[in-house]
Amino acid sequence: NIMEPSKEYLFNHKGFYFVTQGATPENIDALETFEIRDSDIFIATFPKSGTVWMQNILNLILHEGHRNGTEDVENMDRIPWLEYNFRNMDYAALPSPRVFATHLPYYLTPRDLRNKRARVIYVTRNPKDVVVSYYHFTKIMSSLEEVSDFSLFLERFLAGKVMGSSWMDHVTGWYSHAQDFNILFLTYEEMKKDLRSAVLKICNFLGKQLSEEEVESVVRQAMFENMRKDPRANYEKMPGHREEDGKCLFLRKGTVGDWKNLMTVAQSERVDEVLKKKMESLPIKFIWDI
Ligand code: A3P
Repeated sequence: NIMEPSKEYLFNHKGFYFVTQGATPENIDALETFEIRDSDIFIATFPKSGTVWMQNILNLILHEGHRNGTEDVENMDRIPWLEYNFRNMDYAALPSPRVFATHLPYYLTPRDLRNKRARVIYVTRNPKDVVVSYYHFTKIMSSLEEVSDFSLFLERFLAGKVMGSSWMDHVTGWYSHAQDFNILFLTYEEMKKDLRSAVLKICNFLGKQLSEEEVESVVRQAMFENMRKDPRANYEKMPGHREEDGKCLFLRKGTVGDWKNLMTVAQSERVDEVLKKKMESLPIKFIWDI
């Protein structure tokens, strides 16, 4: 069945698809009682929604002023993945404030996040750009199954048969449980439109006071072209690149509306139809182009 993802790449645990590299059912279960600190920050996203971008922004806001000789440390080591501990880090030994990235659905996150002290930043992106970005990503990540036909990938995406499961369920779940968390929602599109305002919103949420120059510096370094040139931000050393040179792969295009270059009108309408059916009740307005 072409709709079924290969078991070599994905496994389903508690109704959610994880990649087989780096996660096991046992460590996912253990996350429920993962001990969190009030100062912890979690970046939660559906894949391809701007996770790395937010990782870099938080790194810049929290650390850039005092890297203290750790300039070579990559974003992935500063902000590890909660459910994929690629580097076997001891999370309990990390200094505060710890920042984690996660693709978990709201219902699989550490139980104590619901005490609403630790912070969550949830980034969404319009699903047409997400699926197009995702499709390109499967070609470069060896941990993902490459699906060469876009229309098949789109069907798997809409059916939730990809890492991260259903985009609709992920977003709907986090939005409709917002009151259970100390959470800030941001969209990829608003960051793209006005990065400075987004940075200020984040600083405000974190209770972090930056000077005007520091804000400018964060914004400058978080712009697509500058991040693309920064190996720490662009995950150049991430294991599993299919391509030999391993360069500039995480940051591909970084635009809003790239879906128009790949999707047919029929495919776009197919997405609209599914969204209408599944998400009409949510107060989310998608931005398809800017
Ligand atoms: P594209 O494939 O459309 O270029 P994630 O980090 O969740 O995997 O998301 C990756 C997407 O975010 C990629 O989208 C990538 O280019 C984009 N991205 C990363 N940093 C960005 C930045 N500074 N500005 C705009 N887009 C960025």
